[in-house]
Amino acid sequence: MLTVGLNDINMKKGQYYETIITTFNENNENNATPVGVAVKNIDEITCRIFKGSKTLENIILNKKFIVNITKNPLYLTMATVDNIMDEYFQFHNNNKNYPYLKDVEAYLICEVIDIKNVVKTNDPVRQYEAGFIKAKVCEIVKLNLCVNPMNRAIYSLLESLVNYTRIDIVEKNMQNYFIDRLNESERIINKVGNNEEKKAILLLKKKIKKKGY
Ligand SMILES: Cc1cc2nc3c(=O)[nH]c(=O)nc-3n(C[C@H](O)[C@H](O)[C@H](O)COP(=O)(O)O)c2cc1C
Repeated sequence: MLTVGLNDINMKKGQYYETIITTFNENNENNATPVGVAVKNIDEITCRIFKGSKTLENIILNKKFIVNITKNPLYLTMATVDNIMDEYFQFHNNNKNYPYLKDVEAYLICEVIDIKNVVKTNDPVRQYEAGFIKAKVCEIVKLNLCVNPMNRAIYSLLESLVNYTRIDIVEKNMQNYFIDRLNESERIINKVGNNEEKKAILLLKKKIKKKGY
């Protein structure tokens, strides 16, 4: 039984969150990469990780990983384009098997229940092979009083709303660009958003159609 639950860090069942997963390899080198995590149950998460990534290799090797909840833009960028430098890693209970990142809002210690090989086809990335990981959340360490995991839907909605306020005053090619962006935002929101975000993008789309776009 978890003393701090996923609910206590605002991670809701059925929702997706953008996180940074930290792992280590056979030489005890730490790795961090952004990964979208879905909440399946009060103590269960899933994620889909590209084949060929260090993260998937490390998870297959160790059967455990840490999910870091953070909005730190430099962590997210460093972890995407390269890796996060060693000085930003810390270790749960000083145990090198549990690397997490300094000053995150919270971190989740996860153990693999199951890894399946999957081939995804209905994605902008076209077809790719990945590991579909189901993991048990064994412990949650809450470092901030209030933890707010990130979700792409609200940011996509905000960008769409800003574009809406400008669509009548820009050139035709920019209008087309805004419509493309709106369609992409709608795809993201329908994939990872909550019901309110889905209702909101539908409302916006109807309004834009009514305007004749
Ligand atoms: C916000 C964000 C979310 C991402 N989510 C995933 C994901 O869910 N699964 C995945 O395989 N890659 C995801 N990526 C891409 C990986 O971070 C990327 O493939 C990375 O290069 C793998 O690094 P690694 O080899 O250090 O593990 C995401 C990237 C960003 C920026």
